[in-house]
Order: sequence, then structure tokens, then C-alpha cells
Amino acid sequence: MQLLVRPDDMPRINTPELAQAFIEEQITTIKEQVGDKKVLLALSGGVDSSVVAALLIKAVGKQLVCVHVNHGLLRKGEPEQVIEVFRNQMDANLIYVDAVDRFLDKLVGVSDPEQKRHIIGEEFIDVFAEEARKLDGVEFLAQGTIWPDILESEAGIKAHHNAGGLPDDIASRFELVEPVRILYKDEVRCVGKELGLPDSMVYRQPFPGPGLGVRCPGAITRDRLEAVRESDAILREEFAKNGLEGKVWQYFTVVPDFKSTGIKDGKRTFAWPCIIRAINTIDVVEVTVEHLPDELIDHLVYRITKEVAGINRVLIDYTPKPPATVEYE
Ligand code: XMP
Repeated sequence: MQLLVRPDDMPRINTPELAQAFIEEQITTIKEQVGDKKVLLALSGGVDSSVVAALLIKAVGKQLVCVHVNHGLLRKGEPEQVIEVFRNQMDANLIYVDAVDRFLDKLVGVSDPEQKRHIIGEEFIDVFAEEARKLDGVEFLAQGTIWPDILESEAGIKAHHNAGGLPDDIASRFELVEPVRILYKDEVRCVGKELGLPDSMVYRQPFPGPGLGVRCPGAITRDRLEAVRESDAILREEFAKNGLEGKVWQYFTVVPDFKSTGIKDGKRTFAWPCIIRAINTIDVVEVTVEHLPDELIDHLVYRITKEVAGINRVLIDYTPKPPATVEYE
């Protein structure tokens, strides 16, 4: 039976043996719960939904239907990685929805941060619900709910992302399957590693639901969004090369909506700056900044201004939280 509450005496899953035992137990539980019916999962490629997908693939194979919605605000290479890992390597039943134009068209001219978040959230539910309505015989909805989600929603800190967001005609059709519900984040990672997911997925840094949308402050334009995506990819590549991946809690770039004068090949440029932010935290309530080595900063400035279209200046944000928040919107 699926446990809804974490038992007080449950050991912390922090070894391959404990992770294996958890996986075996969950496979039995999922098989009992689901039988020969289909299960639907919104697969973002984040740690929690990826681990849930891998567990369900082991338990019920093609009865799992994964839906990956590309809203155009994902990081470089993410949709491709989801397809590679789940469709090509794990042979999963994966529906890839290219909703890039749909999201970006809705966001044209929208500069208010809350309205941007709202549009992205609503549109995501609409796209997912449309896919769900197309499918026959699905009785279960799998979710990557984890134990801190339950604790936080009980404490009234944030609403946990369960079926509450789905329209009634969709939500009422499903029974929930939440195989990592009683696990803490580090335990989910330990289980993911044992399930054979790549390290870049298992140890992924936190990434906000509205994605790169909150790192393109103000009204999103496709060219500025591309500058965020390309500079983020360079930052991640250089952090990995310099042994900082997995050591720094979160790092990203932001491209604000103002331009300054520069010079390239003897000609005037008028382009955006790219802001680099790298932070460490335990609880995200208070955040300290990671001070980067001078050589790395110089190299990042060189690469970003040379390789990213529309950028002629690089700035570093060394502001802790408080007074700043982690994200810009
Ligand atoms: P802030 O900006 O509030 O961010 O200091 C704290 C942490 O939360 C992440 N974050 C989000 N995560 N949906 C998410 O799933 C969101 O809308 C969202 N906004 C911020 C942020 O990346 C940081 O790790």
C-alpha cells in the first residue's frame, strides 16, 4: 500500500542498498495499485518527476504515458535530454508537446512578473489537460510530490502542487500515484542515481517553474530570451569545467531590458548586459553569494560577450538575500 505519511522511524535513504530496497518495494506497490491500467505523468525533466518516471517505467513500462511540455522557457538542451533519456534509453511512452509559440505568443508585451507567472502556470495546465483529454483508459495520475511539499502545505507555507491545479473534469478522472511522497530531496536523488538516471538530472540545481521567463525581466522577447538561454549554457559549461557544478547551490544568468553602448570590431554597439548570479543556501530564506575566481570571471566575460548575440557587457550580482531575492522576478 502507498504510504501517505512518513513513518517516524524510517531510516534516511542514503546508501545504494537502502535505495534498492525502496525501489523494489515501490515497484510492488505501484503494480498492486495500478494493475493493467494507464498512468499519466507531466514530466518536466526535474529531479522529482524524472525519478517518478523511472520508477513507473520499471514497474509498469508502457502503461506509463509521460507528457513533456516544452514551453520555450527551458534551458538549452533540456527537452532533448528528456527525449534522449526517457524515449531513447528507457523506451518510455513519451508525448513531446512543442508549445513554444503558444506560450511566447501569450506572453508578448506582458511585463508584470505576477501576470507572467500566472500566464505560464495557466497555459501549462491547459496544454497538459488537452493532452490528457486525448487519451483513453488512463485512470491514474503520477506526481513527483515529495515529503517537504506535504510538510510545507500543512504548515500553510505553500500550496503543494497536486491535482488541485487541473480542471475538475480532468482531476476527477484520476487516482494519484505518488511514489516519492515520503522522501526528502536527498533521498530522491539517491534513488534516482540507483535507477540509472544521469548525474546531470539527479544533481540538477533548482529551476523555477516559470523557467527562464523570470530571468528575462519585463516583457519577454525571443531575442532576449535566447541571450538568457545561451549565456546560461556557457555559465553551466564553465562551472562544470571548473569543478563548481554540484558545489554551488544555484547559478544562472539574467538579461535585463536595457541597453548600453559598447564597441566591437571598431564599430559602435548598443546591446544588453548579462548579469551572472551564483548563490549558496541551506533553506533559501537566507542566501549568500559565491565569490568566483578572477580567472573564471575573465573567461566568462570573454565568452559571453563574444558568443552571445545582443550582449556587450557582463555584470556580477554579489547581493545576498536579504535584501535581494534569488530570482529577479
Ligand atoms: P526567491 O527568488 O524567492 O527564490 O528568493 C528562492 C528559490 O525558489 C526558486 N523559485 C521558484 N521555484 N517556482 C519554483 O518552482 C517558482 O515560481 C519559483 N520562483 C523562485 C528560485 O529559483 C530559488 O531557488
